[in-house]
Amino acid sequence: MTKQQKNVFMQSLRRCKEKEDFIDQFYRRFLGASDEIKQMFEHTNFAAQKFKLLKSLEIIVLAIEGIPEAVHQLNLRAISHSREHLNVKPELYDYWLESLLQTVVVCDHQYNREVEHAWREAGGYAIKYMTDRY
Ligand code: HEM
Repeated sequence: MTKQQKNVFMQSLRRCKEKEDFIDQFYRRFLGASDEIKQMFEHTNFAAQKFKLLKSLEIIVLAIEGIPEAVHQLNLRAISHSREHLNVKPELYDYWLESLLQTVVVCDHQYNREVEHAWREAGGYAIKYMTDRY
């Protein structure tokens, strides 16, 4: 991921975060995408979950840059999502990225192909990192 792509991603994330329901919208799409996913979030406290997901989006770029604390945080997510714990099957990550992108389209008023590409790069990195450790 180039420096330019990282900036584009972080600026888009900042604009999305200005929309109060950004993460709510994401979860509405993500849970609506598959019954299997919906069931996995049956007992989730979404007030807490929203904050955790936002934080993990912010750490992706830092992890790409190799900042040790960010890599550590991403690694903890990989462990929590692995087959021994939440058991998030690798194929479910496609729904995660597509639901995220569909939400960015409507939340980021500066959305364009460059923004889309930056999200795909950042999201793709996190997905590869996590699914490699499934
Ligand atoms: C790169 C993609 C993803 C990121 C960055 C991410 C991030 C997180 C974070 C930060 C948490 C809360 C802390 C933790 O348990 O580690 C969490 C919880 C969770 N995630 Fe993910 N996640 C991703 C993909 C997925 C996918 C594809 C699923 C599939 C259904 C999923 C299902 C869950 C579930 C079930 C929880 C637990 C919710 C609860 O506490 O009830 N995640 N995720």
